[in-house]
Amino acid sequence: MPTEKLVVVGQGYVGLPLAIRAVEAGFDVVGIDVDTSRVKRLGAGESFVEDISSNRLAAALATGRYRPSSTYADASGFDVCVISVPTPLRDGTPDLGHVEQSAAALAPYLRPGCTVILESTTYPGTTEELLRPLLEQGSGLHSPKDFHLGYSPERIDPGNSIWRLENTPKVVSGLDAAALSKVDAFYRRIVDRTVAVDSTRVAELTKLIENTFRQVNIALVNELTMLTHHLDIDIWQAIDAAATKPFGFMAFRPGPGVGGHCLPIDPCYLSWQVKRTLNRQFRFVELANDINHAMPEHVAHRVMIGLSDRGRPIRDARVLLLGLAYKRNTGDMRDSPALAVADQLTRLGARVNAVEPYAGLQPIPDDVTLVSLTEREIREADAVVVVTDHDDLDYDLVVRSARYIFDARNRCAGPNVEHL
Ligand SMILES: NC(=O)c1ccc[n+]([C@@H]2O[C@H](COP(=O)([O-])OP(=O)(O)OC[C@H]3O[C@@H](n4cnc5c(N)ncnc54)[C@H](O)[C@@H]3O)[C@@H](O)[C@H]2O)c1
Repeated sequence: MPTEKLVVVGQGYVGLPLAIRAVEAGFDVVGIDVDTSRVKRLGAGESFVEDISSNRLAAALATGRYRPSSTYADASGFDVCVISVPTPLRDGTPDLGHVEQSAAALAPYLRPGCTVILESTTYPGTTEELLRPLLEQGSGLHSPKDFHLGYSPERIDPGNSIWRLENTPKVVSGLDAAALSKVDAFYRRIVDRTVAVDSTRVAELTKLIENTFRQVNIALVNELTMLTHHLDIDIWQAIDAAATKPFGFMAFRPGPGVGGHCLPIDPCYLSWQVKRTLNRQFRFVELANDINHAMPEHVAHRVMIGLSDRGRPIRDARVLLLGLAYKRNTGDMRDSPALAVADQLTRLGARVNAVEPYAGLQPIPDDVTLVSLTEREIREADAVVVVTDHDDLDYDLVVRSARYIFDARNRCAGPNVEHL
């Protein structure tokens, strides 16, 4: 049997792990990305996604079956194509521009019998109402008659070494039974378990439910945290105690806000669609967004009060932030609440230094100076703020050396520590 050709459009946090996994599963893979510098780095064996080590990337390149490319013509003759391009918000509204552009560029390379799968997170109906006509117009083919079209939401959790792409169940769907069977057969070679659903709309909604659930529950504990602070009750201990209940409770922990390209965005795709089609509000989402957006300011104000209690005004105070990424053990700073905390502290007059071991080559805000975590740096700070609790930071050194720690992640303990 000839090697099947897979094209993965978008070589980011979602597309790169899929491409590499598919090479390992025996596919001939072209990874297409419009970012030529990314393509160049990938071709040189340099991974910018933490979950894919450069060694693993080099091994994939060495098989001769992984080709990063910026040219859609390299998609020619594909059997399966997965689209994993960004789906951000623009002024609070879904921006499907990347999906539209990739579909238009891919369409000329469709051929009868091929399969196209959308993985980008989006509102229910996108695959059928937006992607399908674009592919049909550009190819002259029709789905489901000539080619198969499906949707499979991505559940990748960057930095999670236990639940990886291959052992996380994958929800699959198709426009008809034949498409579902093709999509399912493809992912069965990639992951341990697939979960078939009846329609692409159900699969699209599945992803939005998962992330709306997280956004709402994080907002619940965040709001409770702001209240229990005034009631002088330890919310962290209460959540840990509640989590001992073996049924009916799932623990979510407070934090400085939510970030990345999922939680602040995906629920808005759903509330936007509800508003557009039903002219109704999705109130849970709006409330959760309000609360979670307010957290960085709350953290900055608590730091200001903490400094004031210690006789130190925030103006010209030196504040050391631990972590700039939105998520522990990753360098992903997209929409990171840490950047919002830094911005708020700077506005209040603080001088902000930050430790971010995963920063790599990413741009850092002008007002923030990136430093290493040294005893001297900690001692010289008027306040150390734990924003992102990366596992490999030396918290013992921090607790030993800091005058005042504001810990938004419950990572430190001691008389000099104040928790969110
Ligand atoms: N990162 C996550 O943890 C995660 C998890 C689940 C779902 N998702 C969803 O997956 C999708 C992709 O997210 P990501 O995190 O991989 O984004 P990313 O920004 O890391 O990667 C996307 C890549 O697509 C490229 N791209 C943009 N337009 C293109 C085009 N027209 N043709 C080819 N390449 C193009 C970009 O240059 C970029 O390299 C989004 O819809 C996101 O919501 C992300």
